[in-house]
Amino acid sequence: MDLASVTQGDQALLYMERYVDEGARTYSPLAGRTEAAPRYRPESDTPWFDLVTFNAPRDRVSVFQADPAPALLHHFIRPEGVLFAVHPETWANDTVEGLGDIRALPRDTPIRVAPTASTRTVLALEPPKNVPGHFLKLHYPVRISRFNRELRLKNIHNSVAVSRDLANLRFDKFAYLPDTLGIAFGADEQSWGFLIRETWPRPFVTGRFLIPCFALYAGDLNHPDAPPLLVQMIDRLAAEPVPFVINRVFAPVVECWARVARERGILLESHAQNTLLEVDRDFVPRRVVHRDFDVWVDPGARHRAGLEIPFLGRGMAADTDEAVKQHYSLVYDQFIGHHFFGYVAGILKSYYGVDEEIVRAQVREVFHRSFPDAGRSFPARTMFKFRNEVPPGRNVMLEDMQQPSVWR
Ligand SMILES: Nc1ncnc2c1ncn2[C@@H]1O[C@H](COP(=O)(O)OP(=O)(O)OP(=O)(O)O)[C@@H](O)[C@H]1O
Ligand SMILES: [Mg+2]
Repeated sequence: MDLASVTQGDQALLYMERYVDEGARTYSPLAGRTEAAPRYRPESDTPWFDLVTFNAPRDRVSVFQADPAPALLHHFIRPEGVLFAVHPETWANDTVEGLGDIRALPRDTPIRVAPTASTRTVLALEPPKNVPGHFLKLHYPVRISRFNRELRLKNIHNSVAVSRDLANLRFDKFAYLPDTLGIAFGADEQSWGFLIRETWPRPFVTGRFLIPCFALYAGDLNHPDAPPLLVQMIDRLAAEPVPFVINRVFAPVVECWARVARERGILLESHAQNTLLEVDRDFVPRRVVHRDFDVWVDPGARHRAGLEIPFLGRGMAADTDEAVKQHYSLVYDQFIGHHFFGYVAGILKSYYGVDEEIVRAQVREVFHRSFPDAGRSFPARTMFKFRNEVPPGRNVMLEDMQQPSVWR
């Protein structure tokens, strides 16, 4: 892909989401696996597919809101009922619990969509004129990479609650794609449904364009010889590669992550699929745009900050300080350090002959500047990762790697 085409709106973003992810899903033995049917995978050549929709009575759904654009709200929550969307593969799967009741509802107009890199989050391709652009994140109970991608009431509630919470953060390098509306069929724990994520980052700035962070370093499926977008950007801006990557990519990601963790107790999973680099018309990176807010929360950090815990479940699902620290390590050392920064450092090495340790040392400095009290939240001298055995559902089992993190 040519860097210049990044400015071509939703189509450019979708192209990167679907086809500029070559070689990026190698960060674990499970990362490249998927049980989604081939035609629904992002890299398929199916241009679009239709979500199955139903008209659900208002009193049979749970609705969660984080200040949605009014036209978007009214598009889904209508006087005659709620527009309830189901992924076609979920709709066709007789083993999906609760589907019987949903199938009995009156059908509504299908929603034409295309998948993003996560597979289960899709972009609405033809929203009515007055309705703002949006993604739908769907209940898709098949394994995609490590997890079974269910989207239950708790996930929906928490994603919207975190979206609401993030509106309080003020930091010029931080922006986010809010999950502004969540709809579950039913009101109990097992209920499932979908999220609506607006395409305009908040706070909104005009004349900006998004590049999913994996597309900075990954290959383009259809143009295997094209240099990575990061290399094109460095070239076009005539930038010094190491300072550019540190100041324009790594430092903003670390600073945003540390601000949100320390000030809000929210552990954003800022890996390369959950972050997008926002560039201006000259392709200069300006902000890191975050998405995907079904994340762990550190109740201790919330208490220290004098904040409530308006989330379902017990935040970290961890009883001890040690277990909390393990989650901090998993998110920072693995998701950000290993799954994201490691690949970018690999580009610096292969294109510019840069010693990766020089880059890592600078990131460590940024980390300690941004997280001066890291000793309270992180394990000393070691880091944690997921065990390779796949546990059932979304339970996680962590493993002590017995080696220090190279990124902090
Ligand atoms: N380069 C990448 N790094 C990490 N994950 C990637 C990458 N490319 C694609 N993915 C996919 O994105 C998903 C990441 O999981 P994650 O839980 O962050 O997202 P999600 O909750 O399914 O969706 P969303 O991010 O849209 O909210 C997985 O399905 C994974 O296979
Ligand atoms: Mg994600």
